Amino acid sequence: MTNLQQAQPTQFSRILAIGAERGELVVTNDDIAGPIDSSDEWIRQRTGIVTRRRAGADKDVLDLAEAAAHKALDAAGLTGADIDTVILSTITHMHMTPSGAAILAERIGATPAAAYDVSAACAGYAYGIGQADALVRAGLATHVLVIGAEKLSEIIDPTDRSISFLLGDGAGAAIVGPSDTPGIGPTVWGSDGAKATAIRQTHSWTELREDASLGWPTLRQDGPTVFKWASFQMAPVAEKAMAEAGVTAEDIQVFIPHQANMRIIDQMKKQLGLPDTVVIARDIAETGNTSAASIPLAAERLLSEGQAKSGDLALQIGFGAGLVYAAQVVVLP
Ligand SMILES: CC(C)(COP(=O)(O)OP(=O)(O)OC[C@H]1O[C@@H](n2cnc3c(N)ncnc32)[C@H](O)[C@@H]1OP(=O)(O)O)[C@@H](O)C(=O)NCCC(=O)NCCS
Repeated sequence: MTNLQQAQPTQFSRILAIGAERGELVVTNDDIAGPIDSSDEWIRQRTGIVTRRRAGADKDVLDLAEAAAHKALDAAGLTGADIDTVILSTITHMHMTPSGAAILAERIGATPAAAYDVSAACAGYAYGIGQADALVRAGLATHVLVIGAEKLSEIIDPTDRSISFLLGDGAGAAIVGPSDTPGIGPTVWGSDGAKATAIRQTHSWTELREDASLGWPTLRQDGPTVFKWASFQMAPVAEKAMAEAGVTAEDIQVFIPHQANMRIIDQMKKQLGLPDTVVIARDIAETGNTSAASIPLAAERLLSEGQAKSGDLALQIGFGAGLVYAAQVVVLP
């Protein structure tokens, strides 16, 4: 029998560059508190959010993704033609087909790159980085563009108290490529579909077709259920990511959890026993929860404001609707 030739593997991969694009509108707590009978004080205390960034009607999720992609390409000194794989993590590309990634690849000049979307909600970016790392090391890709992009304002209900007030719009892009040294630790990931309704769309497209009075579907969540799951069950996942990368909390310089709620971030820091010297991403205060975009947006802020630097070891973890989660230790670009 003929032995099949195999792709030539590469030993290591790393994140070469990150680019970020936030919605241009700054939405304050006072702007949204009225219809949910809330207040600036309540929202700050319970979530840490001061403002969230949202995009105007003239921009869709692919516009945000494209802007972030160009910034990442410029920072890496690459062009679209250098990208052979595009992974777009999003839940707000408003067509079930074709994928947003294929359109994005064409827009940035990456055709004929392999291109596909990932639906892993707030874990989408960490899912994408895990896949990009594996594709590069397996020799299936050389430069992978991973983008977490969301225009969550498309699926919010201004009268919903459960989740809509948390949400913002933005996109964060990373380019993953070959490296002389290990730059991405093993991804620890998983799901728990028994909690599928904990964060959910109000009704399906088929239900809307049967009953137009249901109106446009929006998001809801069981806040306390998600809060407890994220605060207590995600720390062991992050611990496993550190163990599999062969590092301890003492080795970590930066912690970049999904920007869901400042109290979840503080609780995870405590559970993980991270020393006070560890820089903690708190982009949620200004940007809100941007789901798949939140980790790269938070990373970009730390790097551009000088709180973190290239070469720092960062622990990142995404978690959300599914429920799904993914964590890995990465070297910052
Ligand atoms: C949504 C969240 C902020 C709500 O905070 P909470 O402290 O759990 O609030 P609860 O639902 O327990 O409600 C506590 C009180 O606040 C009130 N409340 C709930 N939502 C409110 C809102 N948006 N504004 C004002 N008051 C609100 C409730 O009515 C309740 O009042 P009561 O004590 O008089 O009965 C919180 O559960 C959370 O952040 N969960 C994690 C969700 C998350 O991050 N999801 C993103 C995807 S990963």
